[in-house]
This record gives sequence, structure tokens and C-alpha cells, in this order.
Amino acid sequence: MTQTPVFPAARAAGCPFDPPPDIQALQEKTPLARVKLWDDSTPWLVTRYADQKALLSDSRVSADVTRDGYPSPAPIKSASISFILMDDPEHARLRRMVTAPFMIKRVAAMRPAIQKIVDDLIDEMLAGPKPVDLVEAFALPVPSLVICELLGVPYSDHDFFQDNSSILINRDADPDDRAAAAGRLFGYLDKLLGEKLENPGDDLLSGLTERVKKGELTRPEAAQMGVLMLIAGHETTANMIALGTLALLEHPDQLAALRETTDDGLIASAVEELLRYLHITHNGRRRVATEDIEIAGHTIRAGEGIILANDIANRDPAAFPDPDRLDIHRNARHHVAFGFGVHQCLGQPLARLELQIVYGTLYRRIPTLRLAADVNDIPFKHDGSVYGVYELPVTW
Ligand code: HEM
Repeated sequence: MTQTPVFPAARAAGCPFDPPPDIQALQEKTPLARVKLWDDSTPWLVTRYADQKALLSDSRVSADVTRDGYPSPAPIKSASISFILMDDPEHARLRRMVTAPFMIKRVAAMRPAIQKIVDDLIDEMLAGPKPVDLVEAFALPVPSLVICELLGVPYSDHDFFQDNSSILINRDADPDDRAAAAGRLFGYLDKLLGEKLENPGDDLLSGLTERVKKGELTRPEAAQMGVLMLIAGHETTANMIALGTLALLEHPDQLAALRETTDDGLIASAVEELLRYLHITHNGRRRVATEDIEIAGHTIRAGEGIILANDIANRDPAAFPDPDRLDIHRNARHHVAFGFGVHQCLGQPLARLELQIVYGTLYRRIPTLRLAADVNDIPFKHDGSVYGVYELPVTW
């Protein structure tokens, strides 16, 4: 065993946008290191970009959370599991059922509706009192409204699903509380599916009920898929909007370049660079080896856990020159912020479109947007499996 830093380490020390320096330092000298988790298990931590891509596309690497050796970030008590934590062929069977609505062309057709959501929320902010918490007023509502529309979930229930989802993804929450939150979300989605079985609409959940009727999918499988998409669809993008805005406010030259451009290409490139630089899913991809694997001069034995620290890979100088610099003009599209391999983010075309519209609109419409608090007083989500800020007080 080469080294055992306790993982996950908080990002608290130093720059709030950088991965923990002690973990980042492993990349140069110990790209495969053993780390110690909350349950005293010692999985491998992989920090280099090339090694991560090799492992994430290796069929001897499993995402099955029920396998011995799986390096879970926190105790798991929930009984139902979604396809993000399964292997093929089950994973592929379920994923295939929801790929169509996330295809680039279908997502592109949502542009006018998303632009209207963004513009309406900015109008409301401008008409209301200031300072305002950007998370509550804008960052959370944008992706929540979008995913509700796509799935056919009533947005009026947003307090319920946002509250339960934030318990579920908080790795420091009591495991029983997390299991209870998962149960409530499952029950909610199951009830909605029941209503749509009777009265189908033109939405993704109604599409799933058709498959349930045909016997291609069980109702619990459909409900679990609904939970996954509802959570994945709003938590991640919301954090990218708020943390991305903070990062830009702290890099005024980059913000000015973005605000002043009319070039859609530069806006798209800024989205990729912010995804790379901020890498919000900072718990890493969690996997377990099903056979012995030789990599980077080591042997990962069958049954050993593997954590692929994608946030560190996105700062690998071999893949991104001068990686700790935020530069919206660089080509960062090969980042691994959406993961890599068969589990690569299903919703990435939608996340990209939402972020392009948000970053291309918010700073242009509110050119004097600025922080209304000291950056040192901003509460960061060190305890979440998705990184971001709990609040972002802004004014203009
Ligand atoms: C900026 C926003 C987003 C980020 C950074 C992000 C990140 C990720 C990452 C890293 C994975 C891979 C997990 C793994 O390999 O273990 C993933 C998977 C997934 N994401 Fe996203 N995501 C985002 C937005 C979305 C949206 C809007 C949806 C819409 C429903 C979504 C749905 C999913 C689903 C269903 C999976 C599981 C895919 C599979 O296992 O085959 N994500 N996401």
C-alpha cells in the first residue's frame, strides 16, 4: 500500500474551486493510491485522466453497488437501486428506455421554452427586492422547471422533491434519514405513475407507463427511473449555475468576455470550461473490479474498490495545459465532468443547453451582477455528493 489519505477530503482549504491539494498532489507521484473510507475499507484512488478513461471503458470494472468491495461514499440502506448503480445488460435495458427524450435534436427543440423560463425568472428577480439569494431565486428553479416539464412532474411539488433530494445526496446525513427520503421520493413517483397509467400525457413518465402496460418494465423500475431523473435533472445543473456564477464573479476578466460576446461558440466553450474547472460531482465515480486489472504498474485485484476522481482528472496537465487556470477560450470539451464509458451522463445535452442559455443570458441582462456577501462567508456544500453553494447572495 502506497499511501492512505482519508477520502473524501473537504475542499475547504485554499481556493474553493480547486480539488483538495493533498489529493491533487497524488496525481504526479502516486496516480494509483490506496485511500481509507468511512468503513475502514481501502479502495484504489485513480487520479490521472488517461488511467480513468481506460478504467471507465473497461468491462472488468463494475458499477454494481451490491457487489462486495464497492466503495460507497456513505452507508446505503435504501432497498431500491437505479440503473446508474447497475451493470449491463440490466443497465443498458433500462437506459435504452429513456434515451430518446435526451437526444440532441429533441433537446434542441426545448430551447425556446428554456429561454422563456430563464427570462421570466430574471424579470422576477429584477422586479423584486435585492439582495437576493441566486440559488433560491434562479439556480434551483431553472433546472427544476425544465425537468418537471420533461418528466411530467407538477412543479408545485418542488419543495417536497428538492428537500428530499438534498437529504438523499448529503453523505453526512443519517443513513436512516437518507433511506426515508429515498422511500418518500419513490412513493411520490409511484403515485404519479399510477395517475399517468389512468390519464397519460405527453411526457416522459407517461411514456414509461406505456412500457409498463406492455410488460417491458415493472412499475417499481419505472418509479426508480423517475427518482433518478428527477434528482439528476435538477441538483447537478442548479449547482453548476450557482457555483459557475460565483467562479465567474471571482474571475472578472472571464465574466466580461462572456458577457460581451455574441458568439454562441464562445458561450458553449465557457460551459465546457466551467464544467471542467468546477467538476461538481466531486465524490468521484465509484466502481469495483470484477477481474484482476493491470494498470499504471499496479494490479487492481478482483473485488477491490476503485474511486475515479474525475475532478482531479479534469486538472491533469497531460490533458489540460495549465489546468488550474479558468480560461473560457480553451477547448475543454474532452473533460470528464459527465463521466465516461457506458454510464456517461444521459442528460448531458440537456444540461449543456440549460447552461448555455443561462450563462449566455444572466450576465448580459444583469451586467452589474455582483456578490452581496464576502466570498469567505458563502456556505459551500462540502457534505454533498454534488458540490456547490447553499446560498449565493447577489445584488446589482
Ligand atoms: C451539469 C449537470 C450534470 C452533471 C455535471 C452530471 C454528471 C453526471 C455524471 C458524472 C454521471 C456519471 C455517473 C457514473 O458514471 O457513475 C451522470 C450520469 C447520469 N446523469 Fe447526469 N449530470 C448532469 C445533468 C444531468 C441531467 C440534466 C440529467 C437529466 C435527467 C442527468 C441524468 C443522468 C442519468 C440518468 C445518469 C445515469 C447514466 C447511466 O448510468 O447510464 N444528468 N451525470
